Amino acid sequence: MVETIQWTAAGVVMIDQTRLPRVQEFVTCRTYQDVAHAIVTMVIRGAPAIGVAAAMGIALGVQQADPARLDAEFETICSTLAATRPTAVNLFWAIDRMRKLYASLRGQPVAAIRARLIAEALAVYEEDIAINRAIGAHGAPLVPDGRTVLTHCNAGALATAGYGTALGVIRAAIEAGKSIDVFAGETRPFLQGARLTVWELQQDHIPVTLITDNMAGHFLKSGRIGCCVVGADRIARNGDVANKVGTYGVAVLAKENGVPFYVAAPISTLDLTLRSGDQIPIEQRPAEEVTEVFGVPVAPDNTAVENPAFDVTPNRYVAGIITEKGVAFPPYEESLPRLAAKE
Ligand code: MRU
Repeated sequence: MVETIQWTAAGVVMIDQTRLPRVQEFVTCRTYQDVAHAIVTMVIRGAPAIGVAAAMGIALGVQQADPARLDAEFETICSTLAATRPTAVNLFWAIDRMRKLYASLRGQPVAAIRARLIAEALAVYEEDIAINRAIGAHGAPLVPDGRTVLTHCNAGALATAGYGTALGVIRAAIEAGKSIDVFAGETRPFLQGARLTVWELQQDHIPVTLITDNMAGHFLKSGRIGCCVVGADRIARNGDVANKVGTYGVAVLAKENGVPFYVAAPISTLDLTLRSGDQIPIEQRPAEEVTEVFGVPVAPDNTAVENPAFDVTPNRYVAGIITEKGVAFPPYEESLPRLAAKE
């Protein structure tokens, strides 16, 4: 399976997701600023992968920080990484985890602090893979055998430390012996579906068919799709789900056609401090992502553009939220906090 991100002696190494699938190139981030830049420019993307990158970025930054100004530099590292992308709560979850650990190490020798932060970043990475396997195990029974699964964006190995959340459910269903294939929505404007999901599934020889986003309704009506499974960037306490823009439309069309729509995400994607999805900050991305395709203009000069990177799917469209601790079903106000508190 593809290595999305790795801690190495030379720095944090990531596969460059802006160049896939044509070019398979790895980028080495040698400073925490490089890691922040990689997150902003989408060299690495996907909520859990962004969290892992932030943890590694902090560990990297602390190796290079001036021991005489460690507290101040630690804060700068954390705030620089926190300013990269606003929607995926895993970023803030990972920074918070590293911050709490750092605070607990106060007074220890700098070498010990540095070693401990590296170990924690590696733990975040390894736990993420185990979490995705558990999400897969909980989600696989929900996938109807012999049918097609529709997914949107990329919630796979490339969006995590490995295995994936939504694609983890698909992988686990196949490992359990189910005969399924995947429809991947292309995911305009950044084309995570066309470029990343299709490539990733092809690497694993999982049958995948690419459709454009506006074909989702046509296929959901056809009776061919057994269920939809997508990832999430942030889930509010009431089960409203922020995920890649276009997810909301898929969810509404799924409900209209009686197709179950599932969300697969780690507990770290829950934001129980938010009452509803209205409170989730939505990232706005550059206009050129909409007006150009691979640098080629497709709209008249000076076209007014909106480019929200995410939308919020209201909880009533979500048949279940698959986590590493089990599946939450409506009413989410009750099931999500209960699941989050489970040991
Ligand atoms: O803008 P991106 O590519 O970071 O958006 C990614 C998504 O919306 C994913 O579906 C989500 O982060 C879940 S990844 C397991």
